[in-house]
Amino acid sequence: MTATRPPRNSSPAPINFSAGPAALPHAAILRAREDLVDFEGSGLSVVEQSHRGAAYEQVQAAAISLLRGLLAVPDSHEVLLLQGGARGQFAMLPLNLMAPGTSGHYAITGFWARAAYDEAALLGDARIAVDTREADGSYRRVPRASELVVDSHAAYLHICSNNTIYGTQWSEFPDPGAVPLIADMSSDLLSRSIDVARFGMIYAAAQKNLGPSGVVAVIIRKDLIERARRDIPTVWRYATHAQHASLYYTPPTAAVATMRHVLEHAVAIGGIAAIEATNREKARRLYAALDARPERYRLPAARDSRSLMNVTFYLPTPEADARFLAEASRRGMVGLKGHRTTGGIRASIYNWVSLDDVDALVDLIAELGR
Ligand SMILES: Cc1ncc(COP(=O)(O)O)c(C=O)c1O
Repeated sequence: MTATRPPRNSSPAPINFSAGPAALPHAAILRAREDLVDFEGSGLSVVEQSHRGAAYEQVQAAAISLLRGLLAVPDSHEVLLLQGGARGQFAMLPLNLMAPGTSGHYAITGFWARAAYDEAALLGDARIAVDTREADGSYRRVPRASELVVDSHAAYLHICSNNTIYGTQWSEFPDPGAVPLIADMSSDLLSRSIDVARFGMIYAAAQKNLGPSGVVAVIIRKDLIERARRDIPTVWRYATHAQHASLYYTPPTAAVATMRHVLEHAVAIGGIAAIEATNREKARRLYAALDARPERYRLPAARDSRSLMNVTFYLPTPEADARFLAEASRRGMVGLKGHRTTGGIRASIYNWVSLDDVDALVDLIAELGR
């Protein structure tokens, strides 16, 4: 993967392990800077352009087509770029697909999966297919397929493919048969190859692997759009956005334009296969460094549920965690503090964190592990 962190001014840029908004390819940041001054040779900034102008429309169409190509999205699915973040989808999904008389089923494997369920429960008959919460309130694993209880008439089964806060991830997806499988892939879309055809809908807030915040990608089966409720506000219908090629409301133009640069970069470095190979190697090195020092580092995630994107661990005491973070900061590493609800350390190693970046952290783990 090309370097993401050439110096931005006189001093080296920090190594960014933030959980999101997260590191982006430096090449994409430089092109976004050009867009801000002179978009596509128009003499105007991207933030001064009409979204109805040909220049912007082409860029948005390119972003959608790049995402389609990278993920090999079949013709059966529509790709939409919307606003409102992943949390917006927590509401939009049940509004559209959980019609009165039907139920939405949720696998609860972490904070975000729970938040998606809570939102659906406000709107209708949301049910818990499984909840892997531990007695101490934490989540350490994703379930086995046999643990899921899903009604054969369910409107959908919702999962969160990567639990950003707890550092767990589904390595294999459940197969609920005729029930559409819906996944919040906010923190792992574009990080590994997936068979999109298996999903009724996938959504992902952009700010981890895809680009800046402000845009959420929705990949949805066309027949589900057709089947969705029409007695809901126009702006919340998937059908509206599909009919208007994601230009119904004014899109977050600068965010979409930057996403296009990120996706072009993803293609240039070899697409999903190359990205996934590097991601697996990054995770392998990091987990190996931690596993080598079990008396020093405790990993809460069950081994078979470990995330390739967010690596969570604890030192023996909160004071030792604090010393680790202070030394990391002294070495130019930022974003490593665990989520406020879990404490500890979380290294988010999304697509645009390089192997070199991970090696710097591996060195620190080895040195402070003695
Ligand atoms: C898996 C997951 N879902 C949902 C969200 C919420 O995203 P947003 O802030 O775009 O609503 C996050 C944010 O970190 C996330 O990691």
